[in-house]
Order: sequence, then C-alpha cells, then structure tokens
Amino acid sequence: MTRMIRIFDTTLRDGEQCPGASMNVEQKLAVARQLARLNVDVIEAGFAISSPGDFEAVQRISREIRGGPIVCSLARAVDKDVDRAWEALREAERPRIHTFISTSDIHLKHQFRMTREQAMERAVEMVKRARNYVEDVEFSPMDASRSDPEYLFRVIEAVIDAGAGTVNIPDTVGYAVPDEFGALIRGIVEKVPNAHKAVISVHCHNDLGLAVANSIAAIVNGAGQVECTINGIGERAGNASMEEIVMALRTRKDVLGADTRIVTEEIYPASRLVSTITGMVVQPNKAIVGANAFAHESGIHQDGLLKEKSTYEIMTPQSVGVVKSHLVLGKHSGRHAFRDRLEKMGYRLSDEEVNKAFERFKHLADQKKEVYEEDLEAIVAEEVTRIPEAFVLKSLFVKSGTEQKPTASISLEIHGKREDREESGDGPVDATYRTIAALTGTKSNLESYVVSAITGGTDAQGEVTVRVHEGGRTVIGQGADTDIIVASAKAYLNALNKLDHFKKHRKPSGEAQKGLEHV
Ligand code: KIV
Ligand code: ZN
Repeated sequence: MTRMIRIFDTTLRDGEQCPGASMNVEQKLAVARQLARLNVDVIEAGFAISSPGDFEAVQRISREIRGGPIVCSLARAVDKDVDRAWEALREAERPRIHTFISTSDIHLKHQFRMTREQAMERAVEMVKRARNYVEDVEFSPMDASRSDPEYLFRVIEAVIDAGAGTVNIPDTVGYAVPDEFGALIRGIVEKVPNAHKAVISVHCHNDLGLAVANSIAAIVNGAGQVECTINGIGERAGNASMEEIVMALRTRKDVLGADTRIVTEEIYPASRLVSTITGMVVQPNKAIVGANAFAHESGIHQDGLLKEKSTYEIMTPQSVGVVKSHLVLGKHSGRHAFRDRLEKMGYRLSDEEVNKAFERFKHLADQKKEVYEEDLEAIVAEEVTRIPEAFVLKSLFVKSGTEQKPTASISLEIHGKREDREESGDGPVDATYRTIAALTGTKSNLESYVVSAITGGTDAQGEVTVRVHEGGRTVIGQGADTDIIVASAKAYLNALNKLDHFKKHRKPSGEAQKGLEHV
C-alpha cells in the first residue's frame, strides 16, 4: 500500500535564512499562495518573534490561507517565543506551533549551556505551553543526528506524552548519511514506546549534498512528514529540495511505497516564483527544475526520444509544470487581461501596483514584439515588490567600444534630489557601477554579478542579479531590461536601496533572525 507523506514546506522560514534571500511580506504572501496551489500539507510561514516583518508575514498568511494547508510558526523553547507564535497564528484556520531546543551535547554544552535534563524539562514545558494555545504542536530536537540516541529517544517520548503530535528529527548541520539516518528513524519508530502516537518528521540540510537522500531513507524507515524548501534554498548549503523529494516518490513509488498529495504541475511555477523573488538563480543542471533538466543534447538520446519518449525520459516536463514558454500578452492587451494573467501567476496586486506594472509592461511591449510569462515575472519582481527607493535612476548614457575608454554618465535622484556624475571603468558595466558607487557614496562590496536572458531571441530582456555586502548584511538586487547595461544599473541600485532600507528599519540579519543566542 502506498503511504501518503506530509510535505512541510519551510521556504518562508529556513529558506529565507539563505544569505540575501530575505523576502518582504507581499512576496511571502505570493509564495504562500503558490504553496497552497501546490497543496503542501504545512506552510512554515516564519519565525514570529524574530522580527516585526516575520510576525506580520505569519499573521497575514494565517489570515489568508483557507481550506488548505496548516500554517505554522517557529518558536524557540522559550515562553515569549511560544506566546508570540500564537499571537501571529491566532487567525489561522489550522494553526501549528513548532518549538525546538537542541539535544546534542555539543549544542547543549557550548551554545545553550544546559544539562540534558534541563533541556528535556524545557522541551516538555514548552510543548505543554504551546498545547494550551493550539491542538497541533510540533517539537524538534535540534541537531538530533548528532545527539546520543538513548537520550534523544527519552526526549521524544516525553514530548509526545506532553502533547506533541509531530516530532521532527533535524539533521541540522547536514552531517548524516542515508543508512545511518534511516536507522535512526527506524530506531525511533521501534524503540520509543509512544512513537505511534505522533508523526515522525525529518528536516535535512544539504552540507554533504545528501539532504534528499537522507529524507528518502527516513521515509522508507517510517518517517511520515518531510520538511523541505522550493529549489532547496535554506541555511548554508540549503534544505532538502521539495521538488526532488516529491518527484522521487512519485516516479519511484513502486520501490519506495510512498507518495505525496502535491499537485506536481505547480512545481515549476513555484520554482520560478521563488527564484525570481529571492534572486537565487537555479543552476541549469538542477534536477526537476533546472533549465537543462529536460533538455536532451546527445544525438543518440534525441533519436531515442523521437521514437519513444520513455527511452530517455523518466517523467514528463508537463508533469512538473514545465511548458514551452508561451506568449501571454501583446502590445494591445488591456489592463484587465494583464491583471488576470498576473493573478494566474500567483501575484495579487493592489490597483496602484497593477498600474505601475502595467506601465512597465506597455513600455516593454513597445520594445519587444512578444511578452512572455517570464518577462512579466521580471516586471513584477522589479516594479511591484519594490521597497521604498532612496536612489532612483533618472538617466543613463554609456560610451563604449574598441577605440573608446568606457564611460558612464548617470543621473540619479537621491533622497529626492537630482545628481549627475560621469566615471570611466574597465568595461561599460564597470563604468556604470563606479559612477553609481560615486554618486551614492556606498561602502558596499559587490560579491557577484550574473546576467541571464529571460527568454530567447536578441530582443530578450536581460536579467541581472547582483549580491552586495555591507556591514554584516548581504542583499540581492535584480534588474531587467532589454538593454543589459540598464538592467545592470537597476540591479545594483535595487541592492543599494535594500541596504539603505534595512539600515533605516534595522531588520536583523539572517543569523540574528535565527535568534539562537538567546534560548
Ligand atoms: O535545522 C534545524 O535544526 C532547524 C530547526 C529549527 C528545525 O531549522
Ligand atoms: Zn533547518
């Protein structure tokens, strides 16, 4: 019989802990709506106490998501965290509080400065506290895979007795290997006397590239829930990738004996949405959602495919929602059709946002005959999810060529005042970036610069993604335009605007957001 495995998506919590991947509330709502379309079982919407933005995201997702997934907030095993999680979740139809504390001696000694018995007591106390608020409580013994199994089993038994309906076993530092991790889960299922009263879940990190393999080994050995993220984004090397787990189960349920309720056709749109919003570009050879995942280059393979698809295709691109880029709108499309299309893509925008995005679309449709869904994603990412801008690009003029030192003349509106400057550089992008740096006086460091074409053809929009670092914070900036120098300027300014915004609003950095130092 096929077992149904619960999919617990933590893109909005652990996924957001990726350096630079932070999302604003509107962006998180768009992702939550797409997760609901995917039919995930649980959305971990954030870590309510970690920042006002996280609180608001959990609250708004709780309000909006109806008739589908459980909405969950993370909480350290501390009174105020559990209380805050409940405040954010109050309006959820199906709320879950997820509380955690470490059980490994390494963490208890060096980070938590607690004895094993103190940690166990705290875990039980906080599960009971959470149960006073909600029926559905999940507990995670952090760093479980490096914990003494005998002690871990006692903690699991105690939290289940205290009312935890799900016990999640994290491989926090991505240290486990599949046979070992599978055996740990089997040990829990067989040796913890009340294990059958809870769902055993797993949460694997990808430091050794084994997160998906470990999750599958756990499922085979009795886990009933897996925690994962879209595109595998997350802390350090990331979390187990949802699309890989889901498609492995779907494609090989003959041997794995398990499946999920995921609407797999929504996988690719979810991947695009998360990648566009976070600026985390998906590597071309990434399984399931990479640009090459269904591209067959070898002549022998192409020959086989033409004769019979199953020769070289173990799943169809359509089954994961990869459809040929289709033309969505043209120059004469109206505002209504435009809004309708954005809604189908998962963006629900205010009138003002639709107007701004529509203006951009019209401008693009003038430059480019055909506007594809990917072009709209770029417009939305840039125009709609924009934070208030301290630096606005007014004009850009670049001279460059074989006989010419590249020079950029740029006009910016800086905090409402127009300023102009001209600088030269090693190439047109370098000249542009030097000029912007001089105008804004930024002390930041440009860590990476990636340019890609959004669709095919020489009139395609170029999409530029930059990673910029300043004062312990990394941000990702994005810009798109049919002119890649303009796209480059927009991406850099987008990153500088984010840094400026964070400075003013003091949103904690990824590490501080985790807030582990105050457990
Ligand atoms: O990796 C981890 O241990 C976590 C827990 C908070 C579940 O993210
Ligand atoms: Zn994690």
